[in-house]
Amino acid sequence: MEEIREAPEAVREWERISAHSHITGLGLEGLKAKPVAGGMVGQVEAREAAGIIVDMVKKGKFAGRAILLAGPPGTGKTALATAIAKELGRDVPFVPIAASEIYSAEIKKTEFLTQALRKAIGVRIHEMRRIYEGEVKELSVKEQPHPYNPYVKVPTGATIKLATTDASQKLTMDQSFAISLIRQGVETGDVVQIDADSGRIVKLGKSKEAAEREKLDLSSVQVVDVPSGPVLKHKEFVYTLTLHNLDVAQSRAGMSMFSLLFGGEERKEISDETRRSVDEAVKSWVEEGRAEIIPGVVFIDECSMLDIETFSFLNRAMEQELAPIIIFATNRGVTVVRGTDLKAPHGMPLDLLDRMLIISTKPYSRDEILEILKIRARAEKIEITKDALEYLADIGEESSLRYAVQLLAPAANYAEAEGSKKITKEHVERVKQLFADVKRSVTYLQEYEEKMLK
Ligand SMILES: Nc1ncnc2c1ncn2[C@@H]1O[C@H](COP(=O)(O)OP(=O)(O)OP(=O)(O)O)[C@@H](O)[C@H]1O
Ligand SMILES: [Mg+2]
Repeated sequence: MEEIREAPEAVREWERISAHSHITGLGLEGLKAKPVAGGMVGQVEAREAAGIIVDMVKKGKFAGRAILLAGPPGTGKTALATAIAKELGRDVPFVPIAASEIYSAEIKKTEFLTQALRKAIGVRIHEMRRIYEGEVKELSVKEQPHPYNPYVKVPTGATIKLATTDASQKLTMDQSFAISLIRQGVETGDVVQIDADSGRIVKLGKSKEAAEREKLDLSSVQVVDVPSGPVLKHKEFVYTLTLHNLDVAQSRAGMSMFSLLFGGEERKEISDETRRSVDEAVKSWVEEGRAEIIPGVVFIDECSMLDIETFSFLNRAMEQELAPIIIFATNRGVTVVRGTDLKAPHGMPLDLLDRMLIISTKPYSRDEILEILKIRARAEKIEITKDALEYLADIGEESSLRYAVQLLAPAANYAEAEGSKKITKEHVERVKQLFADVKRSVTYLQEYEEKMLK
């Protein structure tokens, strides 16, 4: 009989980031936004505001507060949140959730939220462990179609060759490792440490030789020495877990929590008692100098979907001792607060709105749309003529950025079927006819309804 398997959490997260894969950061110089950088275009004020927040988060000054990203659809709110995550770096937890997930999860709403909040508090631990370390000499990632969606490829495993100044070794690893490799952007020339028992990977920086060879900008990369001695050794390993990881480990068994490095995530409820004992343990590690606490970020997209109960839960949660930062995003103006019959700005209760910093995102100019399309085409490895790109920018300006971005893939497909290496304006015209934008689709249905009434 066929075995039933759930898509691992890592795979679901993978799908969510792919529309924003071109974004590598906020593209700031100091606190000033460069017009086009880090895969981000325009939206200068919002990016600069986000930069200030990243700065405060990194300094640990912002815990327990909230931000609201508000703006029309397709103005880059989710893109901005993705960029914030990239800027925070690998150690600071970033937990993206869509408000609708709260209702679809098999666990209670409050449990789902508590888990999300605890996933966003990092605990950086120093421990003696068996680790592989060295410069990445070779790296290959195996891909396979997604278990449910065969049109999307997901990584399924990886092989990596590590070298110190004295030795080298080849390692074969599984899917979660491959995803973690890609998410951290590990490439050849990086110096990494891998925990031998858990497969946990930590990227230390670039080797000096690789940085010179690739002519990297030394102000933005960390250059480190290639370690010496054998690849596998006993050494102090610094890694970051989250309170949630520890909760899961603790609730599994009375095993020594300190050395226990979680396996797959489990979606069951965790008792308050377990959480209390984890908090106690973490506090004592901090006092002993074996661990540090790193408050991270929970990002709640489509937050107008949350109901009044959830809002008041979050309001209280933000006042607790170990609270992450919460970033909300919405494209709704004044609307009903779910679970009440009252209208409020962004569908959020006023007491919560009151304690938030609001960043608004604005619609893009045609030039900015053009620039974003160029970047997206490059990210999707799509060749397109200048004419076709200009035409797509017109479409983006007239209907929406998202619509124009979405036409790229079918246009590429159509071009290929026509035996053309590049998308031309004709190809774009054709897919524009075949796929309606929202305005056209609504107009059509309205006309149709009118006819039905006659
Ligand atoms: N400033 C930008 N620079 C580069 N790419 C961007 C920018 N803004 C948006 N994009 C890209 O355009 C697409 C649409 O943007 P995004 O999904 O972030 O919009 P949104 O504001 O979250 O919309 P919604 O309200 O519908 O959720 C995404 O692929 C995103 O990565
Ligand atoms: Mg969005």
